[in-house]
Amino acid sequence: MIQISKKSGLTGMLLLFFIMAYAQKDQPIVVNADKIKSEIQPTMWGIFFEDINFAGDGGLYAELVKNRSFEFYKPKMGWLLKSKAVDSSQFNILSCGDAHKANPRFARIKGGLSADPVCLSNGGFRGMGIRKDNQYLFSIMASVQDGGNITLRIELVSSKGIVIGGATIKPEGKEWKKYTASVKAGETDPKASLNIWFEGKGVVDIDMVSLFPGDTWKNRPNGLRADLVQLLVDMKPGFLRFPGGCIVEGHDLSNRYQWKNTIGDPENRPLIMSRWNIEFKHRLTPDYFQSFGLGFYEYFLLAEDIGATPLPILNCGMACQFNTGELVPLEDLNPYIQDALDLIEFANGTTDTGWGKVRSELGHPAPFNLKFLGIGNEQWGAQYFERYARFEKTILAKYPDIKLVSGTGPAPDGDLFDLAVKELTKYNAAVVDEHYYRDPAWFFNNAARYDSYDRSRKYGIFAGEYAAQSVATCSPDNKNDWNCALSEAAFMTGLERNADIVHMCSYAPLFAHAEGWQWTPDLIWFDNLRSYGTLNYYVQQLFSTNRGTHLLEMVREGKPLTGQNGLYATAALDKSTHEIILKLVNSTGKPQMQHIVLQSAKKMMPKAKLISLSSDRLDRVNSFNLQENLKPVEQEISLKGKKMTVTLPPYSLSVYRIKQR
Ligand code: AHR
Repeated sequence: MIQISKKSGLTGMLLLFFIMAYAQKDQPIVVNADKIKSEIQPTMWGIFFEDINFAGDGGLYAELVKNRSFEFYKPKMGWLLKSKAVDSSQFNILSCGDAHKANPRFARIKGGLSADPVCLSNGGFRGMGIRKDNQYLFSIMASVQDGGNITLRIELVSSKGIVIGGATIKPEGKEWKKYTASVKAGETDPKASLNIWFEGKGVVDIDMVSLFPGDTWKNRPNGLRADLVQLLVDMKPGFLRFPGGCIVEGHDLSNRYQWKNTIGDPENRPLIMSRWNIEFKHRLTPDYFQSFGLGFYEYFLLAEDIGATPLPILNCGMACQFNTGELVPLEDLNPYIQDALDLIEFANGTTDTGWGKVRSELGHPAPFNLKFLGIGNEQWGAQYFERYARFEKTILAKYPDIKLVSGTGPAPDGDLFDLAVKELTKYNAAVVDEHYYRDPAWFFNNAARYDSYDRSRKYGIFAGEYAAQSVATCSPDNKNDWNCALSEAAFMTGLERNADIVHMCSYAPLFAHAEGWQWTPDLIWFDNLRSYGTLNYYVQQLFSTNRGTHLLEMVREGKPLTGQNGLYATAALDKSTHEIILKLVNSTGKPQMQHIVLQSAKKMMPKAKLISLSSDRLDRVNSFNLQENLKPVEQEISLKGKKMTVTLPPYSLSVYRIKQR
């Protein structure tokens, strides 16, 4: 026993502290391979998709033409009248009003009135990403007024003004028809544009001018950008939450997300302004609209493609409380609840049900196997609970197996959070969403957040939106640096250690266009042709692809590792492969030697796998310079028996996969 005299004072205390810290450090970490603490849900690590930062239009949705239907608030936005000597009266916007409520506007081009033909140019979303030798599918709706004789000459034009591909289309007749042409690109250019020359005489009306790359994900028409979907596939996500985020709520209720407006022929999906268009004064994005070309049918298909459980979130009769907070009176809430019931039928109903038939006619007779449904995004206060209650009552009466998701609002603590926790225990949500946009220190310090959560509560936890903020929430200067990613890794060991109550987790937001973003940090960055995973992405990927099926006890001196000596750790078992999976985070700038005992494990295979991600610089970030990016490194290690001595590099996340015979 060490005795400290009063005289030795502070120095003695410090000495004792260091001796104790070092003594503890030398104690082995014990993993009890036969002590299964809980199941780890297949939905544990998922993804959160929201059309923010050009994630949908201008991003994942592969359409290259901006304002293809002339329905932006300023209907000519995105379109440039290029030809010299052409009068602006030769390019007008008309509306057919109620005759086509979802898409009333079209453009009228008058050809042959000047020396030059009319040329309309579209510059895409901060340029069009065009790749050499790729095919591009151009399409247009056109109606030729009587006596018109116009040929459309389509050109792909490089940023240097060189034509790099072309085709012609000859529209005929007054009836609106869709015309298509395939264009092969001769050059690669991230900032190309599309020209349409109207050659000849007469009047032609046009609408739904579209250009898609031929190599969309699974080569689907109206498809998604393949490189971005691949990054999602590589995460092996357990669920896909869509379509948000605040976009569900809308700036006001007219601006909310309505799933029924997002299915069927894209031409009939009424466009609205994206709420992110005007959200941040420092990042105004006047050309940000939602075409809904990527709509609920496409989201369900995407979830299926990437092997993720779909998790749609619906508006609960409340607009964003950071904006108007507009409310639907309780007595008028039924159509909103009906939307939820219809969505369940759309996803799961047999083909002889009304909405099941719609799904089938869209091309998917088999159900989408919807299990979860979110009611409201980031709502708070009494108005939320009373609305949530009505949804729950009706939905669970008809669909008792649907797992409802409710939420605690924007912050992980404070009065609103406490109130939500108290109120939501009265209901039957299967999981409750908590959001944390906090600094890295918060994430390091909260790795034990759920260790002391009340186990008697009925619902599981959905860590539905989280990301460490290097500067402050909503600051445009936030970085996806290693300090943030490492703090998230430390926190995530705590999520996993509490897998008995934490059932779903997702980083937010998912995507950002390098020139079209509003919010940082983000998991995946892209421009018109390229994309990369941030360090945060690789942390998410390491947890998700090394999930394990069951949680094991992992302790040092009987206590979980929640930051003592800067060390965070968790252990899992993968019952299907018989592997023990260890995740260890060293948050210090020094290497740490650790002794690990795999107690009660079966006989070990002599070789194990170590996958690690580390950087000696906490300000390290990934970028479009892919060769220089930091990614997990995999190596084989040798094992002798059930005791391991490992050295964890400074600032590192290490994942060990140890196979038992
Ligand atoms: O992820 C960005 C935004 O943060 C989400 O839209 C919202 O739910 C939260 O406030």
